[in-house]
Amino acid sequence: MKHLISCEQCTRQNLEEIFELTDKIVENPKKYSESLVGNLVSIIFYEPSTRTRLSFESAVQRLGGTIVSTENAKAYSSTAKGETLEDTIKVISGYCDAIVMRHNEDDSSERAVKVSSVPIINAGAGKKEHPTQSLLDLYTIRQQKGRIDNVKLAVLGDLLYGRTIHSLVELISLYDNISVYGLSKKEFALPQKYIDYMKSKNVSYTVCSNFDDIPSDVDVLYHTRTQYERFGGGTGREEFIINKEVLDKFSKETILLHPLPRNEEISTDVDDDPRALFFKQAHNGVPVRMAILLQCLDKME
Ligand code: CP
Repeated sequence: MKHLISCEQCTRQNLEEIFELTDKIVENPKKYSESLVGNLVSIIFYEPSTRTRLSFESAVQRLGGTIVSTENAKAYSSTAKGETLEDTIKVISGYCDAIVMRHNEDDSSERAVKVSSVPIINAGAGKKEHPTQSLLDLYTIRQQKGRIDNVKLAVLGDLLYGRTIHSLVELISLYDNISVYGLSKKEFALPQKYIDYMKSKNVSYTVCSNFDDIPSDVDVLYHTRTQYERFGGGTGREEFIINKEVLDKFSKETILLHPLPRNEEISTDVDDDPRALFFKQAHNGVPVRMAILLQCLDKME
């Protein structure tokens, strides 16, 4: 049984195994269309989602498996009647072969693993981690750049609450000669523990004050929306908006990623630019999550 709950458990070798399997799935999806026949996956989401939930549901069904799901477990599972997460997981793990879970609490996956008799896949836990998103982010970088080593990555937006940022900087730190640049409002700066983690892995981190502080030949611009739901804030004006004029300050080789959903931090006037790859990135979620499911269910050949 293999859980995927944190980027901390990943090694370069097992990322490479997932990426190679993803490549094979993309090349020959038919070969994998019956890999999960007879397997049932529970998809439980306590927070809203478009991409993660639907791409996991798509991934299971493209592998021939079936799902039981609840898209709003907070309101429509017995959580609404006071059931603990532990009791819910103990029950659901008797109904299925794996559980894909999104939850608002940072330690939800660790709590689920302690009581589950089937693999737990973390589909987003509070502000802490979103490992399957980071796997598809790295896969997209590898696909577009042909490498993950020697990458200059700029992370933008909400570096404080953005779980996709936290997982991405942890995962990319497994690679060699990585430079990370952070551009955010001061109140959304990257927590020191991630800066210390990168330092421990010889990753350089530079705090930027404006777009001009990011090298124009940066390989990846990775923007994120402000996570207003994490601090009860309203909607505020974004300070660092990437529009056509800003994107044109960067190299023709720079790619623009975003985990989505976006708000105003990326203008729609860049959508037709070949460097704007966030929809392709979202679509990579299906084959990457197919590979993750095969790994967690011990179906990798
Ligand atoms: N990137 C991401 O997690 O999107 P959803 O919230 O729509 O799943």
